[in-house]
Amino acid sequence: MTTQPDRYAVMGNPIAHSKSPRIHALFAAQTGQHLEYRAILVEKGGFAAAARAFREAGGKGLNVTVPFKQDAWVFADLPSVRAERAGAVNTLIFESGGVRGDNTDGPGLIRDLTVNHGYRLTGQRILLLGAGGATRGILQPLLLERPAQLVIANRTADKALELALRFSDLGRVSGCGFTELGGRRFDLIVNATSAGLEDAVPPLPDGILAADGWCYDLMYGSEPTAFVRWGLERGAVRSLDGLGMLVEQAAESFHLWRGVWPETGSVIAALRVG
Ligand code: ATR
Repeated sequence: MTTQPDRYAVMGNPIAHSKSPRIHALFAAQTGQHLEYRAILVEKGGFAAAARAFREAGGKGLNVTVPFKQDAWVFADLPSVRAERAGAVNTLIFESGGVRGDNTDGPGLIRDLTVNHGYRLTGQRILLLGAGGATRGILQPLLLERPAQLVIANRTADKALELALRFSDLGRVSGCGFTELGGRRFDLIVNATSAGLEDAVPPLPDGILAADGWCYDLMYGSEPTAFVRWGLERGAVRSLDGLGMLVEQAAESFHLWRGVWPETGSVIAALRVG
C-alpha cells in the first residue's frame, strides 16, 4: 500500500510566480522525503480561514509570503523568539499541541552571506535600507552577528527610528532618513525596500559604500536588479541578489518540518539557470 505524501504549501497574494514549490520539490527529491508542496492563492483578509482549512484537511505546515506574514504571526499559537521580535511568520508547523510559527528569512540571509559567500558580518558597518516587513524579519539575526553598527535608513525616517528603538537591546542600531546619510561609509548595504519593484534605488549619497564594500538586495530577478546594478556601478566587491536567501530560508523551513538539511548549492544553481 502506498502512503499519502505529507502536505505543505505556500500561501500568498500574488503567488503564481512563487519558486517555492520547485525548491521544495528539489529538496524532497534530494533527501528522499515523501511530500507534496503547492502554491495557494489566498484572498486578502482570508489567511486565517485558509490556513485553518489546510490544517484541518491534514496539512503539516505552511510557508507564508507577502502580504500575510503578520497574519501568520497572529495565527501561530507558539511563535519562536525571532518571529515574535519580527512580528512576522513565514513558516508554520502544524503539531498536535498547537501551531508553531517561525521566521526563517533572517537565518536565510545570514546563511547565504556567511556560508555561501564567506562574508563575516561581525565588526562590520551595515546599512539596512527600508523599515517595512522585510527589514523586521532580518533585524534580530543580523544584530546577533554583532556588527560594529547597524543603521536603518528609510524614506519615512520615523519608521526607521521606531524600529531601531524596538531592537536597541540587541546591539548598536540606529535609524534615520536617507538625507542624513551624507559623509557616512558602510561595509555592507542591504536593500530591504520595495523600490526595486519600480526598478528604482533609494537616493544614496556618493561615497557611501566603503572601498571593499558589499551590496545585497533581498529582491531577485532573471536580470540584475536595480540595486545590484547600483552596487556594481559603485565598485562593490560583490553585489548579490536575494536568490540565495530565498533558497536558504526554504532550507530552514524544510529542516523545521522534516528534521533534515537539504543541500542548497545545486538548487540555487538550478534556479539561476531558469
Ligand atoms: P516589505 O514587506 O517588502 O518590507 P513594506 O512593509 O510595504 O514591504 O515596506 C516597503 C519598504 O520599502 C518601506 O520601507 C518603504 O518606505 P516607506 O516606509 O517610506 O514607505 C520602502 N520603499 C518603497 N518604495 C520605495 C522607494 N521608491 N524608494 C525608497 N523606499 C521605498
